[in-house]
Amino acid sequence: MSVEGAANIAPGQAPNGAAEAIHIENLHKKFGDLHVLKGVSLSARDGDVVAIIGGSGSGKSTLLRCINCLENPTSGLIRVNGEEIRLKKDGHGHSVPADRRQIERIRSRLGMVFQSFNLWSHMTLLENVIEVPVHVLGVKRDEAIATAEKLLARVGLAEKRDVYPAFLSGGQQQRAAIARALAIQPRVMLFDEPTSALDPELVGEVLKVIGDLAREGRTMILVTHEMKFAREVASHVIYLYNGQVEEEGPPEQIFGAPKSERLKQFIRSIG
Ligand SMILES: Nc1ncnc2c1ncn2[C@@H]1O[C@H](COP(=O)(O)OP(=O)(O)OP(=O)(O)O)[C@@H](O)[C@H]1O
Ligand SMILES: [Mg+2]
Repeated sequence: MSVEGAANIAPGQAPNGAAEAIHIENLHKKFGDLHVLKGVSLSARDGDVVAIIGGSGSGKSTLLRCINCLENPTSGLIRVNGEEIRLKKDGHGHSVPADRRQIERIRSRLGMVFQSFNLWSHMTLLENVIEVPVHVLGVKRDEAIATAEKLLARVGLAEKRDVYPAFLSGGQQQRAAIARALAIQPRVMLFDEPTSALDPELVGEVLKVIGDLAREGRTMILVTHEMKFAREVASHVIYLYNGQVEEEGPPEQIFGAPKSERLKQFIRSIG
């Protein structure tokens, strides 16, 4: 998680020689007068699973949304796949993307899974999964269907390919959303509390899918309230408090021997 020597390394290359997937330095985000992110830095190399934990309102979703260009940071640096997101100031002094095409390129490297699934309700699962590959990335329909079938089978939904989301449980919908995110062959998967909208009995099936992806070496940044799961799958844990990294480290340290009083309190409160 070091930023030392960052200026001297080749794009896509982390300081220790492993490929860098995401790199964030001194990120600030303000909404009007509300200063939500106050100098957050993090990096993920290929194969890293970075878990972000923290209380409600600490800025976790905002941080993920900045990585995926759904929000524009007020200042700071974000590199995805070695490519720095270029921003400029508009007439009101707000940060806006300098290059729309770059934003599309960056997004095509990131698979995003939200709390609320966000499947397209007028499309079957198969159509949901092939939509972006076919209509945005230009993959041939036959190929996209073959890939989608494999991905749906992976998440245990092979038989549901022609079903509409409304006829599925929350756990099934979220597994389909994961298949859809994987279909673009992303470099990094971003998860924002993927299980917090689910009934408790459905949480396990979704965590199983995410855990399998993590164990396969997929790079991911995962915002979660599932502490036991984070401890199991994360290679690095970041505790955000009030828009700042209050403490970070390997899961054994964060959960087993936290130093910060706030983190100790947070872990106690979440049980
Ligand atoms: N588009 C927006 N406009 C104004 N304020 C916003 C916007 N998005 C988020 N905020 C504010 O930024 C702060 C951080 O929100 P964020 O959603 O990042 O928190 P979080 O850590 O994800 O919380 P939770 O655990 O509840 O999801 C909150 O005070 C929120 O109200
Ligand atoms: Mg959130």
